[in-house]
Amino acid sequence: MIRIYEAYIEDQPKKKRALRNRTVEISENEIAGLKLGIVAENLLEKNKKDLIICGNSFSVLPRLIPKSFDLMFADPPYNLTKDFGKESFRQTTSDGYEEWLDSWLRLCVPLLRPTASVYICGDWRSGAVIQNAASKYFKLRNRITWEREKGRGAKRNWKNATEDIWFFTVSDDYTFNLDAVKQRRRVLAPYKENGRPKDWSDGESGKFRDTHPSNIWTDITVPFWSMPENTDHPTQKPEKLLAKIILASTNSGELILDPFAGSGTTAVTAKKLNRRFIAIESDEQYCLVAAKRLELAKIDKTIQGFKDCVFWERNSGNMTK
Ligand SMILES: C[S@@+](CC[C@H](N)C(=O)[O-])C[C@H]1O[C@@H](n2cnc3c(N)ncnc32)[C@H](O)[C@@H]1O
Repeated sequence: MIRIYEAYIEDQPKKKRALRNRTVEISENEIAGLKLGIVAENLLEKNKKDLIICGNSFSVLPRLIPKSFDLMFADPPYNLTKDFGKESFRQTTSDGYEEWLDSWLRLCVPLLRPTASVYICGDWRSGAVIQNAASKYFKLRNRITWEREKGRGAKRNWKNATEDIWFFTVSDDYTFNLDAVKQRRRVLAPYKENGRPKDWSDGESGKFRDTHPSNIWTDITVPFWSMPENTDHPTQKPEKLLAKIILASTNSGELILDPFAGSGTTAVTAKKLNRRFIAIESDEQYCLVAAKRLELAKIDKTIQGFKDCVFWERNSGNMTK
C-alpha cells in the first residue's frame, strides 16, 4: 500500500505555487517521517489515542472502544459525485444516501458516551435525509448553517453559499460551554447606564460585546492559498469552525471521533485545544497531510479567527492585534 503511494507521489507533477502561497505540502523526503505519525488499520492498538488511522471506517469503527468518545464530528462525502484523492464517492438517490449514512452511523452509536454530542455536516440537498438518519439514534438539538464565501454563481438559480451541520446529543445530559464560544462583535449603538457601558466593553481597539452564538455562522473563512491551514483537500473544513464545536461540546482532555478525517482538521484543532482524538481516513495522501499538520501544530497552536479565547467577526484581523 505504502509503495503504491510513493509511486503515486512520483507520478504527480509538482504544483507551481505563488511565493506567498502557504498551502501545506509534503516533499518526498518527509514521507518516511510522516508515515510514523499515522497508523495502518491492521496495526491499530485499541487503547491508544491521538491517532490518524489510515483505513476504511467500516472496518475500523467496530474495533474502537465502546462508550469512549465525548464528541463525534462527521464530515462524510456529500451525496455528490466527487473524487477524494484516489477514492471517489458516486452520487446516489436520497434513499440510497440515507441507507449509506445509516450503515456507518450505526457503527458509531456504541462508541459514544451517554453524555456525547454528535455533529454531522451536509448540504441543503441532503438535509432531510441526514436529519432522518441520525434522529433514529440521537436527540436533535439544532442545525447550524454556515456561510461559505466561496462558491460558483448560477445562471438560473441562487448561488449556493451555505452548508449545514446538524447537532445531536445522545441524551439530555450533555456539555455545552456557552462562554467558550461567545462571539465578539463591534457595538454599533453603545448604550450606557449611569455613565457606564451596559453589557459591552470599551477597550483600546474599540467597543465590543460578547454575544450568544446563534445557529447562523457568518464569521467563517474557507481555507485559501495564503492561509497556513490550507491543503489541497477538495472539501477541507476551517479550523475555526471545528474550534467552535470542540470548545462548546467538550472539555479539556476529552476524546473526539472523526470517521471521515480528510486533511485532519478535527485532529489538528483538537490538538491545538488540548483534546484527544481518533481520526480515520481512507486516502493515504490525506493521512500524511494530516500528520504534517499535526507536526506543525506542535509549534504553532494559533487558529485563524480565534484569538485570546475569543471568536472574532470575519475580517477583524486588525482589531485582534
Ligand atoms: C468531506 S471529506 C472530509 C474533510 C475533512 N473534514 C477536512 O477538514 O479535511 C470526506 C473524507 O472521507 C474520506 N472517506 C470516504 N469514505 C471513507 C471511509 N469509508 N473510511 C474512511 N474515510 C473515508 C474521503 O477520502 C474524504 O477525505
